[in-house]
Amino acid sequence: MARKNGAVGPRRAGASGYAQRVSQSFERARFVLPSSLEEELGAALWAAGTLGLETRGGATGTMVIDAWFADGTLREDAFRHWRTRGVTVTQETVASQDYLAAYRAQAQPIDIGERFRIDPRDVDDDVDAANPCGGASAARGERFGLHIPARVAFGTGSHETTRLVLRLLETTHLDGGRVLDIGCGSGILSFAALRLGAREVTGFDLDTPSALVAGQNAALNPWPRQPRFYAGRLDALVMTARFDLIAVNVLPMRIRDDLPRLAQALAPGGRVLSAGALTTERDTMLASWAAVGLTAEAEAIEGEWIGFVLAGGDRARGDLVRGERAP
Ligand SMILES: C[S@@+](CC[C@H](N)C(=O)[O-])C[C@H]1O[C@@H](n2cnc3c(N)ncnc32)[C@H](O)[C@@H]1O
Repeated sequence: MARKNGAVGPRRAGASGYAQRVSQSFERARFVLPSSLEEELGAALWAAGTLGLETRGGATGTMVIDAWFADGTLREDAFRHWRTRGVTVTQETVASQDYLAAYRAQAQPIDIGERFRIDPRDVDDDVDAANPCGGASAARGERFGLHIPARVAFGTGSHETTRLVLRLLETTHLDGGRVLDIGCGSGILSFAALRLGAREVTGFDLDTPSALVAGQNAALNPWPRQPRFYAGRLDALVMTARFDLIAVNVLPMRIRDDLPRLAQALAPGGRVLSAGALTTERDTMLASWAAVGLTAEAEAIEGEWIGFVLAGGDRARGDLVRGERAP
């Protein structure tokens, strides 16, 4: 059945410079139909591969359905036969809107912790020229610059929880470690982990566009090693995968069910950096972590948000926080 007033439209995308290369258009088919045909047409549209439907009332006894399709996937006359049943059909290509263009145009780079400078503006063609604070200068103790244009994916450094994890990352000796970034959003934590010495980083996000944006952000931030990003869930990883550090900046209710599997994916001596909970949720969060065998070694607060460094019982094989990694 078609969704009433469904807000399942196209996602926002960018407009200029780098953003232009990743922007999208969509095909919109608009139907004005007798209300009695709503269910039948809705089912036909889902079967035809719509990305989503928006429905609203029309004149008495009629309604309007907008069906969105990926650009280039709809034949010009795809729904002609509905006309014989009293349905008006129009099709057009719609360029996606870029709601964050104005923000990017006036935004300024943000310094976070001691080591990072995050630039949420658009990047024009010459990435190297626009990235003056890359590896060489950062090696001299200056900040690592990361280009994370503000788009659909969460994680441009403007939110307290991202800043919390970046700060906690800076206190962690990552040299040669394997890192998992759960809910990678823009990929910001993955890029930061590599710059702080991680050997290998895997990031993933339930939200497919975020995982795609993270991959595109990798191209904007050249580095000898790049993270591997995927769209999906924790249980897509092989059961034997183990990580020295797991960063998870996700709302508690969204990650609760994954905590047992997360704890299992932690290598002996490894650490979890967790954020996404409010300070008022501290005790509940600590209880959830304790239930999977992890206890907090350190806490940090930004505004109303709290973050933790957590460890399991087995600390004998190394201590990333103190920089004594297991061989
Ligand atoms: C607060 S954002 C964090 C983004 C980025 N890591 C940062 O620190 O700025 C949380 C992200 O987690 C994703 N997410 C939520 N629940 C998830 C889950 N169970 N597994 C994977 N990703 C999830 C969301 O889609 C969102 O992109």
